Amino acid sequence: MTWPTCSQTQTGLSSAFRRFSGRTCPHVRSQSTALHFYQNRQLELFASKEAQRLTLRQLVFFGRMMDSDRLIKSANYVRTELPVRIAHRLRDLQALPYVVVTQESVAKVYELYWSAFEKFRRHPPITNLTENLAFCEFLENILDEHAPVIPSLSLGLSLSSPHLPPDSLDSFMRRMLVSRISRRVLAEHHLALTKSFGSGSSKIADEPHVGIIYTGLSMKRSIDKCVQLLRSQPYDIEDDSGECVPNRGWPEVEVDGHLDAKFAYIREHLEYILFELLKNAMRATELNHRDASTLPAIRATIVAGENDVGVRISDQGGGLSSAQIQSPSDLFSFSHIRNATRMDPPRLGALRTASSIGVKATVAEQIGRWQSQDEESDSVAGGKDPEREAGIAPHPRIGLGLPMSNIFTTYFGGSLELVSMDGWGTDVYLRLPKLGTNLEGIEL
Ligand code: COI
Repeated sequence: MTWPTCSQTQTGLSSAFRRFSGRTCPHVRSQSTALHFYQNRQLELFASKEAQRLTLRQLVFFGRMMDSDRLIKSANYVRTELPVRIAHRLRDLQALPYVVVTQESVAKVYELYWSAFEKFRRHPPITNLTENLAFCEFLENILDEHAPVIPSLSLGLSLSSPHLPPDSLDSFMRRMLVSRISRRVLAEHHLALTKSFGSGSSKIADEPHVGIIYTGLSMKRSIDKCVQLLRSQPYDIEDDSGECVPNRGWPEVEVDGHLDAKFAYIREHLEYILFELLKNAMRATELNHRDASTLPAIRATIVAGENDVGVRISDQGGGLSSAQIQSPSDLFSFSHIRNATRMDPPRLGALRTASSIGVKATVAEQIGRWQSQDEESDSVAGGKDPEREAGIAPHPRIGLGLPMSNIFTTYFGGSLELVSMDGWGTDVYLRLPKLGTNLEGIEL
């Protein structure tokens, strides 16, 4: 069966549009129809523009020699670029079947995006440093307002999974999530540039950076940091049947290979990915060896290649085969056909909580927050487990870690591959480009 899309239904879309459908009197109706028509024309106008995709290297070069003119240029780039990127995603949402976009959590995301689009579109140009500070406050508020987007979208699309073929669902989610990362990167980079410009410093905790890009990021240091953070929180875990397994302390992680490999990257993204991969490896090891007296160590091998920096994480957690997953790459899928756990009631419940309380849903957002606190203390992410802090983990798991890690990895052209040795363990291969010359992987 083919569902009608929103643009095929009379007033269009979600409540954001229905608000303007004028049910009271003909005068109001004609006014609101005109408003609706005008707003859709604005959306078309922005959606017809191409996003100006950037590379990491461009972000670093532009931010390196900062002066007030460049900072104001950066503010105006963010002000004009974000509504274009949001408009593309609003069009994507409008193209969904009506039954999907009217789903409560999806409609909530639609409204947030519509409101952000209107705010950016109407924002006057920034002409001086005082206006830039006000613009930064405006950006911070929108970043906060959008904290529930990922759990809401994930919940809405999980519940709508029966109405969408797996390929359409996964490509829609990919476009939505990569675009969201890209918008947050642009906004957060500008905020960080403004902060460094104000303080005259480009060093946080002895690590050189330009905006949010760390120019000498050590893979080993980030692995150690995530391990330390995980090991400081030995919470009990649930196996796949829901049985609680007491944690006897997470396994050790041995790091070898090119220990001094350094590259320029967004630290928050790298640490999100490493944290999730290491957490999965530790959990699987713990469960697979619950009756043994000792836990086999996890091995992380770093390799600095000509064009990329890679890490292989090998565990003896028994591998990935399960009744619910056919192939390891299905773990990245949002479709219940590929990954039946998407419809698990405890996961849906946890997503519902995360989406309603508006927690910072990603570890990256949490680690990012602590890293800004670290400016004073340089402690390891405040010594807290980000997901636990966010109230969305460890029980029950919401299943976003791997798909989000995949999205973060591929945003600048990296790759993430899972190889399961069923009955023994899993090898995960992460490769991140180190030259910074790949354009953002956002689609129009
Ligand atoms: C998001 O977090 O979903 C955003 O789009 C943030 C951006 C508008 C600053």
